[in-house]
Amino acid sequence: MEMPNTTQTTINHNKLHYDAQYKAVNIKAILQILNHVDRYLKAATRSDISWVGMYANGFKERIKGKTILELGCGDCVNVAIMAALGAKVVANDISDRSGTIIAALNKSYPFKHNITFISGDFTKTNLEAQCFDFVIGKAFLHHLTLDLEFEILKLVSRVLKPDGEARFFETAVNSKVLDELRWAVPMNDRPSKWLQPKAFKAWEAADPHPPRDNSSRHYKNVGNRLFRSVDILPLGIFERFCRMLPVNKKHAGRFKRIALELEKVLPKGVRCFGARSQVVIYRNSRF
Ligand SMILES: C[S@@+](CC[C@H](N)C(=O)[O-])C[C@H]1O[C@@H](n2cnc3c(N)ncnc32)[C@H](O)[C@@H]1O
Repeated sequence: MEMPNTTQTTINHNKLHYDAQYKAVNIKAILQILNHVDRYLKAATRSDISWVGMYANGFKERIKGKTILELGCGDCVNVAIMAALGAKVVANDISDRSGTIIAALNKSYPFKHNITFISGDFTKTNLEAQCFDFVIGKAFLHHLTLDLEFEILKLVSRVLKPDGEARFFETAVNSKVLDELRWAVPMNDRPSKWLQPKAFKAWEAADPHPPRDNSSRHYKNVGNRLFRSVDILPLGIFERFCRMLPVNKKHAGRFKRIALELEKVLPKGVRCFGARSQVVIYRNSRF
């Protein structure tokens, strides 16, 4: 595919950003997680929204022996966990650091099936059609321009087995008001858009996310063009407020767990309006 300039700029920006970030990845810490994988997942899938989403609907129990492609594998914690749980894992990222991490993990952990790494632009790969049971991404699609997202999802629909499933854990922006509130509150290294406009502009210029539609409606529309079945699981209507409360780390975990449990009683439309994240599930390719 001939890439539009904005797409290539976004890819380069992401590569630079994450090549630098993943230099700090600690292989020993990942091995430590693998040595206590059940305990780690039990805690993470109750209180950490990205793990709650990624492993929703019994994902952990469904992957043993399955062939899984993870796009945007990043620090490789999730690919390592899936491989330790017995899946045959292929991983892709624009950052070559992910490949270095995977090589180190393959060397140090007795996976039943070593993890395979595909480096760089996924649209240039030549994978066999219908070869994966799952294609997944954790906080991946919202890093792509819409052009590239469509090309990648087209490929995903080609490499998924007929009974396979694509699942993406993504950020959700379904309410302008809540989104503006999010930008107003400073978070980690991100200054407030309204109280520190100059600093915010500088932060925004260095941020690897392209400006794009991250609504559930968008993910539904793009999915419907390529798949016959599209499901969205909205998450985080209450959990999103944890970061605004003056709670310490220990209590934050408890707050998040209760918030994520409590939201289940709400109607889906309400959860969708207030969601800060979503799991996007595509099945039954149209091709
Ligand atoms: C927010 S990080 C998420 C990493 C990991 N999945 C996790 O949950 O920690 C987004 C990842 O997508 C990768 N990425 C961004 N654009 C990409 C592209 N065009 N192709 C492959 N990977 C890409 C980045 O390098 C980064 O590792």
